[in-house]
Amino acid sequence: MSAILFDFIGFLPITLILLAVLSVLHGRARTVTTNKVFIEDHVDSIKPESISSQLPVLGHLIHYLRDGPSYFSRLCLSTRAPIFTIQIATAKVTLIQPELARYLPKLKNVGLNPLALDMFQRSLGFGKFSSALLQEADEASKRVGRHASRMFREEFIPSQRLRHYAERIDSYIQSDLEKVTSQDINVEDWIFKSLIGSIGKAIWGGDDGPFVDEDFLTHLRHFLLNVRALNNPATWFIDKSFLESRRIVRERLAQSLSFEEDPAQGERDRQENHGRKDDEGLLDRLRTLCRDHGAPPEGWIDYQLLLIAGLGPNIMGAATWLVYHILHDQRLSASVRREIDHLHEESRESAIDLSEVPATCPLLYATWLEVLRFHGTFTLGRWVHEDTTLAGTYHLPKGSYALAPLTPHHFDRAVWGDDADEFRPERFLKKDGTFDPDVKKKLRVFGLFGSVCPGRFLATNMAMTLAIRLFSTFDMTCRPGEGVRIAKRTQGYSGWFGVARPGDFHVCHEAEARRKVTDYVEIIIHQKCQKSHDRT
Ligand code: HEM
Repeated sequence: MSAILFDFIGFLPITLILLAVLSVLHGRARTVTTNKVFIEDHVDSIKPESISSQLPVLGHLIHYLRDGPSYFSRLCLSTRAPIFTIQIATAKVTLIQPELARYLPKLKNVGLNPLALDMFQRSLGFGKFSSALLQEADEASKRVGRHASRMFREEFIPSQRLRHYAERIDSYIQSDLEKVTSQDINVEDWIFKSLIGSIGKAIWGGDDGPFVDEDFLTHLRHFLLNVRALNNPATWFIDKSFLESRRIVRERLAQSLSFEEDPAQGERDRQENHGRKDDEGLLDRLRTLCRDHGAPPEGWIDYQLLLIAGLGPNIMGAATWLVYHILHDQRLSASVRREIDHLHEESRESAIDLSEVPATCPLLYATWLEVLRFHGTFTLGRWVHEDTTLAGTYHLPKGSYALAPLTPHHFDRAVWGDDADEFRPERFLKKDGTFDPDVKKKLRVFGLFGSVCPGRFLATNMAMTLAIRLFSTFDMTCRPGEGVRIAKRTQGYSGWFGVARPGDFHVCHEAEARRKVTDYVEIIIHQKCQKSHDRT
């Protein structure tokens, strides 16, 4: 017994010492862990306030299904908190208000592609490979995303590439104008085919690619206009014609740019079969990227479709709105036409320089910017790959969405004035009628997070070229009894996201052509170009 007691007493100090050491170690360990936790798990960061709906559990989901991302905007406009969370079914969503926007470019561990996957997986018919790639669950697929983003920047931003695209797009638009024979033009349909056709031909191999085919463009439009319907998980409810158009588009893309195992053979085939030497660039590099990542042929079709869905609908919607607004407002229409006529007179001996449009056609340019503000009411966002913090304070959990609706930015009276709800291009002009670059800086339509749209300069060039060519050629008036309806904050072409889609399509009457296409002066982008005007 005494031995046991001794043993016990004897062991007591040792045990106490051990406990003391352990507790110190544990304390240190806790300090280390706490610090680590602070950095990695954000124990000390603030969990944004959660906003529940009046109807528990299903409320947010029902509102979202009914209103799409404009529900996010509504919530932001009616909530004071700079950041808050909502739960939509199983999805955790953090909504971020304009006052925290300046921290968004620094947000780490987030990605754009998983969001694109959510938007397009079902509607574009992505297979397993592309879904895994866009989900970016591993480092390799994140690398592919970064690599592709770099390719887009290299392709669409340098002025030499811009000039290449602007020239080609202008020549396609001119030849489309030459083909207009009817007095009735369905403006939206015409602009879709001309603009998407031009950029498609410029990227997908000129006169040999799928975009040269009117039938392909008809199916592409039918399919893109119905992306939201195609997102329905209950496929038997989807109109068969939407599925058929998607099938035809996928088939044509598969035929147009094959996915051979042997790149050298592919190169030979391409040169022999299509002679497409001058536009190897982007698509070839993207195809190699997909192939190197082990993509099957369908994965390559998915990727092409993603590119079309990414670059087409926004420019399409915005350019159509531009034309609609000019047609809608007679005073604006007369002033813009005067600017364009003057531009032609001044440029008779030389060329129209797109980089000078803010100075030479300030009202046209201001109308374009106002279109981007007024109809750029979609929601930008990121998928949160790992726990992270915004502004060093607010916790964004792994596996959630960080979303920033644009409406609170673009309709903020404190920023745009009391007439923020009106469509008023003059807000982008100074009192003397010249373009005001400071106002343009307030636009957020090309991005808020770390990266911005690589096609933003090209988009502006495309819209300006289209407007200058169209209004130089035709005096358009609405068909009797048909007015241009300017519906605000409608859904985009690609479902809920993207620039709002113009409402019903309006058939306009085309009077005598004002100018023959052969009378056109050249459109160029001058060397000094872009940067000063077009940074948004
Ligand atoms: C008015 C027209 C357009 C608008 C409003 C627009 C807007 C945007 C926005 C908001 C993003 C996401 C940026 C981000 O959060 O990082 C984006 C991405 C992108 N845009 Fe545009 N865009 C337009 C036209 C174009 C055009 C004409 C092209 C190409 C010729 C283009 C190519 C792209 C590409 C490739 C991406 C993906 C970038 C990446 O993955 O890194 N966009 N665009």
